[in-house]
Amino acid sequence: MKKITVPTISSMKNKEKIVMVTAYDAPTAKIVDESGVDIVLVGDSVGNVIQGAPNTLSVTMDEMIYHTKIVFRGIKNAHLCADMPFMSFQTSKQDAVRNAGRFIKETGAESVKLETTQDYIDTIRAIRKSGIPVMGHIGLRPQSVHDMGGYKVQGTEKGEGAKLISLAKEIENAGAFSLVLESIPHKLAKKITRSINIPTIGIGAGPECDGQVLVIHDLVGLSEEPLPKFVKKYANIREIMTKATKEFVNEVRNGAFPSSEHSYD
Ligand code: KIV
Repeated sequence: MKKITVPTISSMKNKEKIVMVTAYDAPTAKIVDESGVDIVLVGDSVGNVIQGAPNTLSVTMDEMIYHTKIVFRGIKNAHLCADMPFMSFQTSKQDAVRNAGRFIKETGAESVKLETTQDYIDTIRAIRKSGIPVMGHIGLRPQSVHDMGGYKVQGTEKGEGAKLISLAKEIENAGAFSLVLESIPHKLAKKITRSINIPTIGIGAGPECDGQVLVIHDLVGLSEEPLPKFVKKYANIREIMTKATKEFVNEVRNGAFPSSEHSYD
């Protein structure tokens, strides 16, 4: 398999579906890379998924740098995108460029993603101007959970759809190479996908996006239930891990482990 670059991803629109998954550590990155995903995203979902936090808001730039660095070590072919955490780009364009630059210089990331509203179009422009590829993210923006009053489907109210279409166009014009659409009605996602020339990558946005993304712990069944409607569990790793650990607990307690097979002479 060939290395996936930003031009590769751009060229996939209307030709092949783009597959993106999250990863937060080297062994998982190696598994998803070898499974053929196109993009590995080090999401700020690390807050909920790995750190056990109630949301993504507490995730820091230094934590994201650490996770992106170790994910990079597991990747050979996939494109590596790092998520800009809360307050790494909201404070000023200068901070945004500096922090996006840290990802590129310190971790091996090849692009950055930022949750985008009208207020951050110029921020995308500034990061692009420094030569760093940017992925936009609209619809449900977990960093705005308090503003949105929870994790709710977006774009359902009158006029909201048109606003999201126009925002998507602005994001494209500002130079983003792709756009995540999170938790919006599938018909709206289809309209957005057809209105812009950059690929859309959906999560809870239906089948007509140019690609799909899921959080790895959700798709392999390691996350705790309940999961959002848009998640499909392709395995039940939680059950497998619990069963294996329970067997270990029993065998240690009843003396079956370690046997001579696992002991040195
Ligand atoms: O943080 C994250 O993992 C994300 C994806 C789910 C798109 O933003």
